[in-house]
Amino acid sequence: MFEIVKRQEMAQGSVVLNEINAPLIAKKAKPGQFVILRGHEKGERIPLTMADTDPEKGTITIIYQVVGKTTALFKTLKEGDRYLDIIGPLGKPTDIEKVDGDVVCVGGGTGVAVLHPITRAFKQAGNHVIAIIGARTKDLLILEDKMKAASHELHVCTDDGSYGHHGFVTDVLKELLNSKNVKLVVAIGPVPMMKFVCNITKEHNVKTLVSLNPIMVDGTGMCGCCRVTVGGKTKFACVDGPEFDGHQVDFDELTQRLRSYLEQEKQSYELFKTKLNA
Ligand code: FAD
Ligand code: FES
Ligand code: MG
Repeated sequence: MFEIVKRQEMAQGSVVLNEINAPLIAKKAKPGQFVILRGHEKGERIPLTMADTDPEKGTITIIYQVVGKTTALFKTLKEGDRYLDIIGPLGKPTDIEKVDGDVVCVGGGTGVAVLHPITRAFKQAGNHVIAIIGARTKDLLILEDKMKAASHELHVCTDDGSYGHHGFVTDVLKELLNSKNVKLVVAIGPVPMMKFVCNITKEHNVKTLVSLNPIMVDGTGMCGCCRVTVGGKTKFACVDGPEFDGHQVDFDELTQRLRSYLEQEKQSYELFKTKLNA
C-alpha cells in the first residue's frame, strides 16, 4: 500500500505528480476531495487534493508544488518508494449539477490540478464547460492537454505573455461574463486569484465556488486549525468544505492565517536543504 507507481516532474521540476497505490481510497473518492499524507514517522501531515483516481487500477494521483520542507521531502521519493500513511478521502465532494447556462472553470498555478477532475465532472454531467487556466510563464503551465479534453473551450493565459493570452485569467473571465450566459464559476488557485475572481463575479451576480486551502492538521474536524469565516460564521474547511460560496468567504483572514508560521516554515526548509546537500 501507498507505493508510488508513477512519478513525473512538471513545470521545470517545481511541480511533482505521484500516482500512488491506494485501492480503498481510489474506490471511494469523488472530485474535490483530498487526502492527508505523511512521509515518515516524524514527518508532518499535509493535505493534497486528488487530481485523479483510477478505481480499477487502485491508484490515486496527487500533483503538488514544492514550496517548503515537506513537499521538498516528498520530491525525494522515487517510483517504488512508499508513503508511511495516507488518510482519505476527506472533505465534501464538489456538488456537480446540471446548470442552466455555461459553467466557467478558472484555475491558476497548481490549482489547475485540483480543478481538472471537477471540470471533467461538470462536462460529464451535460454542462457546456469553458475553462481558463493561467500561470506566470509558459514553462510553469500544467495539464493544458487534460484541461482541453475536460472542457468544451479552453483559454490559456500567461502573466508574461510567453504563451496564450497575455494577462490574467480574470481578464478572460470578464470578457466571458459579458459575452456568454455564465451561470456558475468554479475558481481554484492562489488566494489572491480566487479573491479577484469573486470580486468580478459578484458584480455580475454569478454564483462562484472556491476551494479553500487553510492550514490543516487532523483533517477530520477536531483540531480547529482549518477554521475559515464564511458568511460571518466559523467553518472548518476540512469537514464543511474545502469548497465554499466564494462571495461569502473572508479572504483577508484566510491570507493572514496562512502566513501564521512563515518564519518557522522558512527555518525548517533551510535546515532541510542544508541536510539534503550535506
Ligand atoms: P511549508 O513551508 O510548511 O508551508 C508553505 C505554505 O503552505 C505555508 O505558508 C502555508 O500557507 C501552507 N501550509 C503549510 N502547512 C500546511 C498544512 N498543514 N496544511 C495546509 N497548508 C499548509 N498544494 C498542492 O501543491 N497541490 C494540491 O493539490 C493541494 N491541495 C490542497 C488541498 C487542501 C484541502 C489544502 C488545505 C491544501 C492543499 N495544498 C495543495 C497546499 C499544501 O498542503 C501545502 O502547500 C503544503 O502543506 C506545504 O507544505 P510544506 O511543508 O512543503 O511547506
Ligand atoms: Fe483540524 Fe480541520 S484540520 S479541524
Ligand atoms: Mg510544512
